[in-house]
Amino acid sequence: MTAQPPERKAHFEALYAANEDPWNVRGAWYERRKRAVLLASLARPHYRSVYEPGCGNGEMSAALALRCERLLVSDGSPSALAAARRRLQEGADPASTAPGHVRFEQLGLPDEWPADTRFDLVVISEFAYYLDAAALDDMLQRARASLDDDGELVLCHYLHGFDDHITPTATVHALAGRLPGLVRTLHHRDADFLLEAWQVASDSSSNASKGTPT
Ligand SMILES: C[S@@+](CC[C@H](N)C(=O)[O-])C[C@H]1O[C@@H](n2cnc3c(N)ncnc32)[C@H](O)[C@@H]1O
Repeated sequence: MTAQPPERKAHFEALYAANEDPWNVRGAWYERRKRAVLLASLARPHYRSVYEPGCGNGEMSAALALRCERLLVSDGSPSALAAARRRLQEGADPASTAPGHVRFEQLGLPDEWPADTRFDLVVISEFAYYLDAAALDDMLQRARASLDDDGELVLCHYLHGFDDHITPTATVHALAGRLPGLVRTLHHRDADFLLEAWQVASDSSSNASKGTPT
């Protein structure tokens, strides 16, 4: 069991309490471009059940809400989650004016990962590098266990160093690449971010990886 350390929770809470958009995810070109690339890279137009842990102020969540029947968004910071709720309720896009299919939960990860829910898409964006190695490993295993048989796991993280991150992006993604029963379906690396996706391996693709029978 690995809980979100209280000082880390306080750190993010202070950031969002002081400024609803501490990283300017709404306006910065980096953020807008990355979101567009991620959303265009999702394998399917529509999903049944999506989870965005570490949702921050909900800018990515608002776009994901348009692509699914049910969306769970969570954050360890109450102020971030309140901002996400406002973002999804403000109805900037007519299709997101009634987010009855969106659930908001304050969850400290990895401990409070929602073990009772399965997803066909989990999007971990600009979040996993805030975890140390043990917490990261724990969270990725939980993410893997919560994927449906046709599930997709997407990770997207900034490549440059910054003050409060703990684990380098390359390490985060390498760990995800070692999760069992997944096949990588996307690798996008540019000057600023790394975006990767994995699908749950079907029986046929697992057999294919063992080679062609003679
Ligand atoms: C940079 S924001 C990411 C926002 C969003 N996913 C995006 O891509 O725009 C990172 C969020 O992770 C949350 N966070 C960091 N560590 C966490 C933990 N251990 N448990 C839950 N949330 C955490 C922070 O509160 C913050 O809101």
